[in-house]
Amino acid sequence: MQITNDISYIGVNDRKIDLFEGQYIVPNGMAYNSYLISDEKIAVMDTVDRNFTDEWLGNLEKALGGRKPDYLIVQHMEPDHSSNIVSFMNAFPDAQIVSSSKAFTMMKNFFGNEFEDRRIVVGDGDTLSLGKHTLTFISAPMVHWPEVIMTYDAEDKVLFSADAFGKFGTLDTDEDWACEARRYYFGIVGKYGAQVQKVLEKLSSLDIQTICPLHGPVLNENLEYYTGLYDTWSSYGTESEGIVISYTSVYGNTKKAVDILAEKLKANGCPKVVVNDLARCDMAEAVEDAFRYGKLVLATTTYNSDIFPFMREFVQHLAERGIKNKTIAMIENGSWAPQATKVMKRMLEGCKDLSYTENNVKIISALNEESSAQLDALANELCIEY
Ligand code: FEO
Repeated sequence: MQITNDISYIGVNDRKIDLFEGQYIVPNGMAYNSYLISDEKIAVMDTVDRNFTDEWLGNLEKALGGRKPDYLIVQHMEPDHSSNIVSFMNAFPDAQIVSSSKAFTMMKNFFGNEFEDRRIVVGDGDTLSLGKHTLTFISAPMVHWPEVIMTYDAEDKVLFSADAFGKFGTLDTDEDWACEARRYYFGIVGKYGAQVQKVLEKLSSLDIQTICPLHGPVLNENLEYYTGLYDTWSSYGTESEGIVISYTSVYGNTKKAVDILAEKLKANGCPKVVVNDLARCDMAEAVEDAFRYGKLVLATTTYNSDIFPFMREFVQHLAERGIKNKTIAMIENGSWAPQATKVMKRMLEGCKDLSYTENNVKIISALNEESSAQLDALANELCIEY
């Protein structure tokens, strides 16, 4: 695949992977992107996962057309991109690695070799000339690891964006970009919104016509759409108007309250109501929904003087990623000492700019007149502006 006259795609599709990064289901597989820039000098942008050494080296040889690469630019050391550094360096003994100093430390830790006599260490703003193409490196710490650099090619106006603007799914998957890019973003980079904001600020002065990420499709039209979503996500803004209810239920009584609440919210004019059963849905999908909408209802049972395990895991994900700018409501159930609301609020204590509804719902085993009235009051409060 040709990206521009001088830049070609040499990455691979992984259709066999079950869990990306050991935890994310990827029903449509995963792409590990890699690119070749051909000029007077030749640069290879990153390698691919260890299961694809032969396929990737084959793609590279074909794109090289008999020439030899001068540089391997390593933007990110996570093994889905770095696993073939050693095989590349063995295959091309005259090539040098260009990367950040933190990345070379990681190479020593991963491979026992930091390539002292075959390396060029670069930092923010440093450049490398290939001939017509001058590459400028942009440090992007914590998007997604501390060593990350992005690379801008001013000649073709291409940004190589490392993990940013990536998504789950192979390149031949026909699906909505935002859905799997959002699940990827909030799962993998979500904690580091402030760092993403810093990088977006640096990128705003560049004339970018094409984004080449390390996962997912090359983006070359309507780029404001993608950068706009990244701005919303990384500033913890509300992407879609609506209310998401995340719940667990043991015997169906909490679920019944959730179903009634969902109907009341719709009847009150809420533009979108999303309901996630945390014991059965994809946890990463529930996490992205929590960040996507402005209002979140947490409904769960008291369990072992704590909260039900799936809800504990969910709230932990939100707290770790520093969820903020949300309105949160709580429904707790308990047969003798309900305390789920207290536990969840304590778990979210460190998160900034959360506002809690005045009305909450306390269920003692099953809905009764009092808790049903609380549901009504909560539905009204949550829909006040609709
Ligand atoms: Fe695609 Fe953070 O590795």
